[in-house]
Amino acid sequence: KWPDKVTVKEVGPRDGLQNEKVSIATEDKIEWINQLSEAGYDYIEISSFVHPKWIPQLKDAREVAEGITRKEGITYAALVPNMKGLEVALETNVDEVSVFMSASESHNKNNINKTIEETYPVLEEVVKEAKANNKPVRGYVSTVFGCPYEGAIPPSQVLEVSNRLFDMGIDELSLGDTIGVADPKQVDDTLHYLKDKLDFSKVAMHFHNTKGMALANVLVSLQHDISLFDGSLGGLGGCPYAKGASGNLATDDLVHMLDSMGIQTGIHQEKLLEAAGYIQAKLGKNLPSHHMQVNHRT
Ligand code: HMG
Ligand code: MG
Repeated sequence: KWPDKVTVKEVGPRDGLQNEKVSIATEDKIEWINQLSEAGYDYIEISSFVHPKWIPQLKDAREVAEGITRKEGITYAALVPNMKGLEVALETNVDEVSVFMSASESHNKNNINKTIEETYPVLEEVVKEAKANNKPVRGYVSTVFGCPYEGAIPPSQVLEVSNRLFDMGIDELSLGDTIGVADPKQVDDTLHYLKDKLDFSKVAMHFHNTKGMALANVLVSLQHDISLFDGSLGGLGGCPYAKGASGNLATDDLVHMLDSMGIQTGIHQEKLLEAAGYIQAKLGKNLPSHHMQVNHRT
């Protein structure tokens, strides 16, 4: 049995571009996000208010947030790692902020320079302040299905981090297969374990397609009543831990699969491909999604 409707959230301008070597001009990012706004999404993650030394590709987060044309009904969101990031995010008046941490200790340390225990109070303060400013908060958990340094991560550890984030007051959780190692059985086992312990109406899956298993993992998630999925248009964004590997699940491939199955997303495939063609030309390389390979190879 399949759901009638699924929400697909676009993270390409953030998760895609942060992992691309070519930097895109600020005005081109703005134009691209404006094109995405016409494609039927209700959520677009536009950038990150992180340290520019860590993610130089997104150092223009403020200019992007202030430059885009905001369309009614769309949530324009951005990542914030700490209060410094939140401060700027609030100045730009993004609609929603996302906090993030890892289920594995070593990835957390490598990504945000803190232990898991040290991260909780930082995020707690951010969530509290964001809510005081009427901003919904999304919480990302990375390395849910495997860590580049530690290997497999026990689901109990994912649950612990997820519970801590929900206790802080996040509105939605996104579970990330950061390095694209999940297989459908592992997703099935993990979601079985989490099912009675988390509210799945507030849980999104964030798959990476490093080894080509992202859509299979979506199918398994659909059977567990997950109805929120993250995608990056064209499969934009590599994987810093796997040279040459494609990154996030491609939104265009995901929307095509869901459309074919009669599951509504509200997203227009033609407009998606146009927007993907735009950013592909700016990057000067073919995007890895199946749709772009078939339809828009340059
Ligand atoms: P840190 O060096 O430990 O920070 O970095 P600090 O608090 O010690 O401060 C050091 C300096 O950074 C200070 O400046 C701060 O002002 C400045 P100085 O006094 O030396 O001149 N600073 C900042 N500047 C700009 N914006 C800020 C900020 N905060 C402090 N927000 C920090 C800690 C978290 C900032 C750093 O590690 C960082 O920026 N990390 C970013 C990591 C990142 O963006 N990773 C990718 C996103 S996560 C992801 O992709 C996974 C996901 O997609 C899900 C999945 O796929 O699984 C979400
Ligand atoms: Mg990601």
